[in-house]
Amino acid sequence: MIQRTHVDHAQGLNPQPFDLLLHQIHALCGWTILGLVGIRILLRCFWGAPVLLETMPLWQRKAATINHAFLYGVLIALPATGTAAMYVTQAAVPFHRALVYFGVALVAIHVAAAVAHGVAGAGIFRRMLPNWLAPRDV
Ligand code: HEM
Ligand code: HEM
Repeated sequence: MIQRTHVDHAQGLNPQPFDLLLHQIHALCGWTILGLVGIRILLRCFWGAPVLLETMPLWQRKAATINHAFLYGVLIALPATGTAAMYVTQAAVPFHRALVYFGVALVAIHVAAAVAHGVAGAGIFRRMLPNWLAPRDV
């Protein structure tokens, strides 16, 4: 299965067994991420998430909400298009690639915003920890 799938995608590149192993690890990591995102979304549905800081301007809260939603979407769409590219049709490859670049851009914006708020002393990093570990007001 591994051989057939990767030869299909390699288009004459003649991948070595190690390349095929790396690609299989890549797919397993992708599916693991999909599973973790699923668990995270379930937890979010049942336990909710802290409301965004009132001290942040409204546009920033809106931008953060949109960015988080797109991050979730990309984390689901990447393994989905990757699986389609590997097992269903190569037509999914351009979508998979485009999502990679889109995801990298979203993460860059997300991390830059988190660091900017951290530097500004907004206590934002504490919000990545569970409430029992780092109690917060909201
Ligand atoms: C250095 C790396 C990162 C830092 C410092 C960071 C920081 C944070 C912080 C502080 C929050 C909470 C925001 C709030 O509630 O006010 C957050 C939320 C979030 N982060 Fe990150 N993040 C990082 C990397 C990533 C990456 C790589 C992803 C995904 C590819 C990601 C996805 C998300 C998502 C989806 C949320 C929203 C969670 C929710 O409300 O359900 N983060 N991040
Ligand atoms: C979060 C999950 C994933 C990320 C971040 C990711 C990232 C990437 C990246 C960076 C590439 C190289 C793109 C390029 O050559 O320009 C790639 C290619 C590829 N990925 Fe993924 N991937 C993920 C999940 C998956 C999964 C779950 C599968 C399959 C089960 C998969 C199958 C593929 C395939 C078949 C290619 C080669 C496309 C081609 O023919 O060039 N990916 N992926």
